[in-house]
Amino acid sequence: MRVLAEEEEDMLPSTPGKVKIERAGAMTRQLHRCFASTGTMFLWALFLVAMTATYLSFHSFVDTSSRYFAASWGGLHWERQIRASASPRRPPGSAEGAGLSVLVTGAAGFVGTHCSLALRKRGDGVVGIDNFNKYYDPSLKKARRALLASHGVFVVEGDITDGRLLTKLFDVVPFTHVLHLAAQAGVRYAMENPASYVHSNIAGLVSLLEACKEADPQPAVVWASSSSVYGLNDAVPFSEAHRTDRPASLYAATKKAGEEITHTYNHIYGLSVTGLRFFTVYGPWGRPDMAYFSFTRNILQGKPITVYRGRDHVDLARDFTYIDDIVRGCLASLDTAGRSTGTGGRKRGPAPYRIFNLGNTAPVTVPTLVSILERYLRVNAKRNVVEMPGNGDVPFTHANISLAREQLGYKPTTSLEMGLKKFVRWYLSYYGYNRGTQAFNNL
Ligand SMILES: NC(=O)c1ccc[n+]([C@@H]2O[C@H](COP(=O)([O-])OP(=O)(O)OC[C@H]3O[C@@H](n4cnc5c(N)ncnc54)[C@H](O)[C@@H]3O)[C@@H](O)[C@H]2O)c1
Repeated sequence: MRVLAEEEEDMLPSTPGKVKIERAGAMTRQLHRCFASTGTMFLWALFLVAMTATYLSFHSFVDTSSRYFAASWGGLHWERQIRASASPRRPPGSAEGAGLSVLVTGAAGFVGTHCSLALRKRGDGVVGIDNFNKYYDPSLKKARRALLASHGVFVVEGDITDGRLLTKLFDVVPFTHVLHLAAQAGVRYAMENPASYVHSNIAGLVSLLEACKEADPQPAVVWASSSSVYGLNDAVPFSEAHRTDRPASLYAATKKAGEEITHTYNHIYGLSVTGLRFFTVYGPWGRPDMAYFSFTRNILQGKPITVYRGRDHVDLARDFTYIDDIVRGCLASLDTAGRSTGTGGRKRGPAPYRIFNLGNTAPVTVPTLVSILERYLRVNAKRNVVEMPGNGDVPFTHANISLAREQLGYKPTTSLEMGLKKFVRWYLSYYGYNRGTQAFNNL
């Protein structure tokens, strides 16, 4: 109690004036403190406003241009490169006309590189786009890009699902044609990474067709379907009139879907469309995931190779088609593609819709392929023959190419023997394997 009274006493004023002075002093101190903290707050607020303004202005700058930085595209210099690469360089008055201006998707890929080079060599303008994904060694794709750059072909690093990038490309260049080769390829990988097939072969295709349909003028589209659409079809040789509604893999299903999707864009928007069903393409600068390529690597490294065999011990056979023959088929398709009829997304009339097989019409069994490689490499393969697992492969392919012969003048000229010789020569020069040097000298 006593303590309490003393405390209460301390709290009571001894004289009224004193209390006023003391209270005034306390208030001044409080005001001072308050004023001081308001000042600090004011300064902080000013600082924050300045920071926000700086951030916002930087953010808006980044927003409009971040895609250029992130996706390494955009800017005046970039646009100049695109225009230069897209410009045809045929001599004035040339018999072949003014030249095409072609956007090649998947340009750093196997077929894309060869087609881009061939177009460039005959004087057409080419701009490539490729996302350099890691499905197989991206350093091979970069080496192909360097090869293209040395011939004046510029490849944009970007994804075909990036609609803004595609729109920008069509803003910069009125492409006459699109050669669409970008895709997630490979039959067996579809069981490992199905989403990548939906991303590139479905979403990517639609994104590209949207850009094409909006473009003014609309380009003619030539694109890579696949022999895999024949799926479980066993009528040989495979003709465009045969059934393609029984795919054996997700890859095949996405290619078949692509044929339906391109038909829709042809029907609604007047896009000129040519779909090419390639049959097992091989050759220099090829794809490391394909059997002829991985067999070569393993044989040279003394590693075993897995050779699949079909039911009842029947050897698998493929209609192996050499890259130069495929390139000629692609260029003939571009040259004969009729015009798209739409503008700004509106159809003005019917446009051509075509589908062609591009094969070699001479199927060869896989064991024969291995024997040819053994001969060129001068090394015996360690064969591990196993029954073909049910992972999407089909037992054989064989193309009927009458339609392409008739309408494109397509005529494959390279036998598997000759084509593999060229491939092995390239492989040994590119990878420079010591074990292969002797074989290389004997080719
Ligand atoms: N090589 C064959 O035997 C064969 C057979 C039938 C069909 N095809 C088809 O031919 C085309 C070319 O095949 P390839 O053998 O040159 O294959 P590839 O893998 O060497 O080339 C495809 C290129 O497309 C790029 N790409 C993939 N998805 C992309 C995306 N979303 N955006 C941008 N780039 C992307 C890849 O990085 C690659 O460089 C593909 O459409 C393929 O399905 C090939």
